[in-house]
Order: sequence, then C-alpha cells, then structure tokens
Amino acid sequence: MFMKLLEVQSSVRLEQSVSRTLSQEFIQIWKNFHPNGRHKQRDVGMNPPAHPTELWTTANYIPPDSRTPEMETALIESEQLIEELLWADRLLLGVPMYNFGVPSTFKAYVDNIVRVNRTFTFDPASFIFEGLATDKKALVIAPSAGNFAPGTPMGSMNFCETYLRSILGFIGIEDITTIAVPNQFMPDETRHQEVEQARTKLKTIAATW
Ligand SMILES: Cc1cc2nc3c(=O)[nH]c(=O)nc-3n(C[C@H](O)[C@H](O)[C@H](O)COP(=O)(O)O)c2cc1C
Repeated sequence: MFMKLLEVQSSVRLEQSVSRTLSQEFIQIWKNFHPNGRHKQRDVGMNPPAHPTELWTTANYIPPDSRTPEMETALIESEQLIEELLWADRLLLGVPMYNFGVPSTFKAYVDNIVRVNRTFTFDPASFIFEGLATDKKALVIAPSAGNFAPGTPMGSMNFCETYLRSILGFIGIEDITTIAVPNQFMPDETRHQEVEQARTKLKTIAATW
C-alpha cells in the first residue's frame, strides 16, 4: 500500500512564503521515506474555492437524488475537494495566521469540505455528530508575524490553532501536529532561527509520518 499525501497551501505569497518553503522541503524528505507515495497539491491561496451560495446551500441539504442539474453543478467544486480530501491518508496544511485566524481562502476551503453526509453525519434523534474523514493525520505549518505560544501575552489570540483542531476534529481528523513558525516580523536573525527550528522538527516528523 502506498501513502497518499494531500498538500493544501493557503498563503497568498509564493517565493517569500515560509509555509510553502517549509512544505516543499518537508515533501521532498517525505518522498524519500515513501518512494511509492502519492502527492497532490491543492493551492487555495492562488486559486481560492468559491464561497457557498444559496443554491449551493439548498443542494447541500437535500438528498443527492432530489437535486436538480443546477444544484449538481453548484456542488461540483465542493465534491472535487471532498473526493481529494477523502483520498488522502496525510494532510499537509500550509496555514499562515491572518488577523488571528486562518486565511479567508482556507476558510472558503473549509466551507466546501465540511458537508453533512460527506465528511460528517448528524443524528437528529441523539444530536450526535460523527466525522467521516477518518484514518488520516494532519500536519499544519503555521507561520505568524508575532508569537502566540501558550502563556505569552498574545497566546489567547491564536484562533488559527484552536479553529483547525476543532474543525478537523469535527470531520474525524484527530491526529493533528502543528508546527508554529512565530516571530516572522522580527529581525532576520530571530525569524531565521524560528524557521530553522521548524525545519528541524519537520525533518524528524517526515521520517515517521
Ligand atoms: C492579511 C494578513 C494578515 C496577517 N495577520 C497576522 C496576524 O494577525 N498575526 C500575525 O502574527 N501575523 C499576521 N500576518 C503575518 C503572516 O502571518 C506572516 O507574514 C506569515 O509568515 C505569512 O505566511 P507565509 O510566510 O507562508 O506567507 C498577516 C499577514 C497577512 C498577509
């Protein structure tokens, strides 16, 4: 069996992006350990998914065999994104902090992949939700200008990490490792040190992930 890795990038930067650079390096190492591994990239930073619309929402909540052709069309992109997510054993997420949360492009991605009877189920009788995107691990590379480590003055404003843990857990992805890359607006020496520390951690993870 070969391992399938889906990489999702959401930085709006290319060459200068810390999350993209570290992700590329990680994937190279990961491929050495998984010579038969498969890798797909979804770039929501450069090609953001469409936001849900009224038609999309109506289509989402009715059984597939009751949908009109227009409704089917409205869900095409979401279906592709979900198929790709369910395909993967491993999710590598490049998610920089934007205004204390995830980039809006990543949120648009989430709105497309979190869907009832596709990535979670809901039983109205018991009010129990269950994730369907199981048997996956997620690795999040999360750069930020500031430092949001727990216990620091701005530690409670890291909505990125709490949000990702909540939403991925909701669809069944519980095994989540976050590599924060803080202090990216600090002088070069400090910010390079942070990148180097993240690089070291990622090298270790790539060997066993
Ligand atoms: C629109 C926008 C909002 C940002 N908001 C924050 C923020 O709230 N806190 C923070 O520490 N850094 C913030 N940053 C800085 C980025 O997190 C930082 O530059 C990071 O390195 C970007 O990731 P990248 O290098 O992969 O592009 C913001 C950057 C952008 C473009």
